[in-house]
Amino acid sequence: MDGADFLVVANRLPVDLDQLDDGTQRWRPSPGGLVSALEPFLRGRHGAWVGWPGRADMDLAPFEDKGLAIHPVKLSHAEVRDYYEGFSNATLWPLYHDVVVPPVFKKSWWDSYVAVNQRFADAAAAAAAKGATVWVQDYQLQLVPAMLREQRPDLRIGFFLHIPFPPVELFMQLPWRTELVRGLLGADVIGFQMPQGAQNFLWLAGRLLGLEPTKAAVRVRNRPGSVPFDGRQVRVGAFPISIDAAGFDELAQSPRTTDRAQQIRSDMGNPRRLLLGVDRLDYTKGIDVRLRALRELLASGRVDPESVAMVQLAIPSRERVGQYQAMRRSIEEQVGQLNGDFGRVGRPIVHYLHQSMDRDELVALYSAADVMVVTPLRDGMNLVCKEYVATRHGLDGALVLSEFAGAAAELAEGALLVNPHDLDGVADALEQALTMDPEQERKRMRTLHRQVMTHDVGLWARSFLDFLDPSAATATSAE
Ligand code: UDP
Ligand code: G6P
Repeated sequence: MDGADFLVVANRLPVDLDQLDDGTQRWRPSPGGLVSALEPFLRGRHGAWVGWPGRADMDLAPFEDKGLAIHPVKLSHAEVRDYYEGFSNATLWPLYHDVVVPPVFKKSWWDSYVAVNQRFADAAAAAAAKGATVWVQDYQLQLVPAMLREQRPDLRIGFFLHIPFPPVELFMQLPWRTELVRGLLGADVIGFQMPQGAQNFLWLAGRLLGLEPTKAAVRVRNRPGSVPFDGRQVRVGAFPISIDAAGFDELAQSPRTTDRAQQIRSDMGNPRRLLLGVDRLDYTKGIDVRLRALRELLASGRVDPESVAMVQLAIPSRERVGQYQAMRRSIEEQVGQLNGDFGRVGRPIVHYLHQSMDRDELVALYSAADVMVVTPLRDGMNLVCKEYVATRHGLDGALVLSEFAGAAAELAEGALLVNPHDLDGVADALEQALTMDPEQERKRMRTLHRQVMTHDVGLWARSFLDFLDPSAATATSAE
């Protein structure tokens, strides 16, 4: 295979190798927002994707998948434990999400993180053509930009962080904080979801390395800020990610989807109002918050159990990490209590699904729901709420959205914003959404729909890549 001109490097490949009960294996779409955002964009470009196939100890040669060159990176069982479950998901994930649970700091995990980042950098260096553009993704691979530049100074290297970048005082807890910042500074452009993340990074670069920003970080589609490092200008900015809005809109309008949406409602006994939650089963997502708020409304008689039902899709995630196991137990206990207290035979309040769902069924669920409930304690962006909005072509439906999701910055006008730490406030917003009149719904949803349809993932990718393009860089420095 010739070297690729455009590569994405991410911990996960867009497809995940799944082991079936009968011992056979099959590829299926990988979970989470990173893949669902990047995949449609990259397939259109015929690029290459360097990543892990989702199972330990798989030795796979590069292969082609629907026009995309796939370069699998092998991880041992110990590396899955230490680099992926350990440093990535029990150290960085909670630290970057406002320490919602306490992060664990272990030197052996860090050592594994360094070794695996080096392997990803080597794989990208081997797969990239001369002068190629390499776009490194997310918190699992923050050392890759510098490691890659070391071997291949000819490349244009971008980095995008899909999750929040924490305030300085939290980041400073990390024993390996300087190494991580240096790793990121190997990139030509470092992108964050929100201006605050970009700002936090610039402060840190100043605090840890004495770097003075040349220009302050600013919002997307303006010029990003920059910081001098190692004889280069590293550009730092905010680029809020989005979805394939037209794809969701189109799928939602297909007769197959509308039929299936009706079927779902009728299978549930045609509840007057249907609430929906869709999340990876993660402690950052605040699934417990919305369940407690719903309990409060039912227990106080503000909502009639005969008039409402909820679907909570909890996509299995990081199941061997202790915090995730504890979270699952507590959510399932809450669901059981709600159904025990307020359901009746054939009519549970919460239809809880612990599984992943294909795109068609997911869109049918979005279409069936009257109220989408998104209550994370902290979320880099949250694509689920944008997907729901994109499916509301008829402008009905309401969105209850946490102000701690990145998406709140764009959707504040039409959504019912809530503070997930304020349970009464969440209950009030749920009640308001459940009782909203169609005219109000239309007014709010029109604003939301317009925003999502005009700010899709293509715009996100183009605005980031514009800054990676050397001609854009020349234009900036000439000013
Ligand atoms: N999703 C998924 N599997 C499912 C259902 C949904 O991968 O069974 C997708 C969903 O469509 C969305 C993504 O997972 O694109 C979740 O992204 P989000 O930004 O909301 O949260 P993340 O999981 O990335 O933290
Ligand atoms: C979030 C992260 C992604 C990650 C996804 C799924 O979206 O930002 O980097 O791929 O969750 O998590 P997993 O651990 O299954 O890859």
